[in-house]
Amino acid sequence: MSQPTNTAQSRPVINWMDVLWLLFLAGLAVLPPIGEIHKQLTLLAIGIVQLTEGWLLARAPRRGAAYIVLLKIVLATLLIDHTGEIGINSTYWPIYFLPAVTAAEYFSPLSTLLWTALASAAYCSYLYPALQDYEMTTEGYGILAIRILFFFLAAMVVNRFVVENRRQTKLYQELAETLAETNRKLEQAQEDARRSERLAALGQMSAGLAHEIRNPLGVIKGSAEMLHQKLGESNPLASELAGYISSETNRLSALVTRFLDFARPLHAELNPQEITAVLDRALHSVSLSLVQKGEDPPVRVERQYEADLPPVPLDESLSEQAFVNLIQNAYDAMGNSGGTLRVAALRASNANRDGVEVRIEDTGPGIQQDLREQIFNPFVTTKKTGVGLGLSIVSRIVDGHHGTIRVESGGGSGEPQGARFVVFFPASEEAGVAQASQ
Ligand SMILES: Nc1ncnc2c1ncn2[C@@H]1O[C@H](COP(=O)(O)OP(=O)(O)OP(=O)(O)O)[C@@H](O)[C@H]1O
Ligand SMILES: [Mg+2]
Repeated sequence: MSQPTNTAQSRPVINWMDVLWLLFLAGLAVLPPIGEIHKQLTLLAIGIVQLTEGWLLARAPRRGAAYIVLLKIVLATLLIDHTGEIGINSTYWPIYFLPAVTAAEYFSPLSTLLWTALASAAYCSYLYPALQDYEMTTEGYGILAIRILFFFLAAMVVNRFVVENRRQTKLYQELAETLAETNRKLEQAQEDARRSERLAALGQMSAGLAHEIRNPLGVIKGSAEMLHQKLGESNPLASELAGYISSETNRLSALVTRFLDFARPLHAELNPQEITAVLDRALHSVSLSLVQKGEDPPVRVERQYEADLPPVPLDESLSEQAFVNLIQNAYDAMGNSGGTLRVAALRASNANRDGVEVRIEDTGPGIQQDLREQIFNPFVTTKKTGVGLGLSIVSRIVDGHHGTIRVESGGGSGEPQGARFVVFFPASEEAGVAQASQ
C-alpha cells in the first residue's frame, strides 16, 4: 500500500478533536453491555491509539499510518467479538468506520480501498463462527453487503475530501515558495537599485571632479611648455623636467577627456548620412594624429565599400568618434611593425532589420576568448598607457544608434590572426521604404 503523505506527519501530537473522540468512546462504554470488561478494555485501547496517533506518526513517519489502521482493524474486530452474542450481529459493527476513515485520511484512493477491504474482511470473518451454529438468510447477506458498502462509501467520501485538501495544500505550498522566491528577487533588485544609485552618485561626483581637473591641467601644461621653451639650452635639466611635466599632463588630460566622454549622457542626433564618408574621415583623423605624434607604422589600408549603400541615420560626430576608437585600437594592435587594416561597409540585415554593416579588421595578434568577453566593459585594458574606455564608449554610441557590435577574432588553426569588429547600423525607415519601392 502506498506511503502516507506529508500532511499526516504535520499532525499535532494531541488535539481537541481527539479529546472529543474520547468522550464519544466514553459514551459507548456506558452503553450495554456495561459489565463486559473486554469491551471496556478494547474501547480504552481504541482511545489510547487515538490519543497517541500523532505521536506514533511523528515517530514512524513512513509506516506509522499503516500500523495505526491495522491496530484499529484489530481493535474493531475485538470489540465486535465482545459486544454481541455472535460477532456478525453486534450492534457495534459501525466501529469499522474507524479504520476505514483513518485509512482515507492518510492514504491514496486505491490504498484506502484496500484498507477498507481488509476491514470488511475482518468483519466478515465472523461469518464463519456464525455459519457453524446458524443459517444465514438472503436478507442477512443483504444486510451484511449494505454495511460493507457503507464502509466503502464513507471511506471514499472522506478520501475524496482529503485528496482535494492535499492538492490545495500542495498548491498553496508552491504558491508560498513562488512568493518567497519573488520576494527574494525583489529584495535583490532593491539592493541592486540602491547600489546603482550609490554608483550613479559616485559617477556624477567623479565626472564633476574630472571636469574641474581639466582647467588646472591646462594651466600646468601651458606653463610647463613655456618653461621648456624659455629655458631651452640655458638649463638643460630644468628644460627636460618641464618636458616630462608637459608630456605627463598631456596623458592626464587625455585620460580626463576620455572619462568625460564616457560619463557624459549620450544624446545622439540621428540624420541620414553616407556612412563611408564618416569612415573616411575617421581613417584620415587617426593617421593624421599618428603622423603628428611621429608614429607612422607601415599600415596598408584597404577599403571595401559596397556600391550604392543606403544612407543610415547617424550622429556624425559620435559615429566618427566610435570609428576612430576602433581604428585606433587596430593600429595599436598592429604596433610598430604595421600590417593591413581592412575597412568594409556592406548592406546587411540583423534581427529582421535592414541596414549597413561596418567591419574593421586588422592583422594584429587578435583577442583571446576570455578577454573578448570583457573588452566592452569599462576600464578593461591590456595597454600600458590605455584607459580601457574606448570600446565602452563605442558600445554606448552604437546603442545610441540602435545598432549592434560584436567582435570576432581569428587565430584558429591555419587562419590569419587579427581582430574584426563588426558594427551594424539599422537603415532609416525612409531608406527602407525607398529601397523597397526601387
Ligand atoms: N583590434 C584589436 N586587436 C587586439 N586587441 C584589441 C583590439 N581592440 C581592442 N583590443 C583589446 O581590448 C582592450 C580594450 O580596448 P579599449 O579600446 O576599450 O581600451 P584601450 O584601447 O586599452 O584604452 P583606451 O581607453 O585608450 O581606448 C585593449 O586594451 C586591447 O587589449
Ligand atoms: Mg582603445
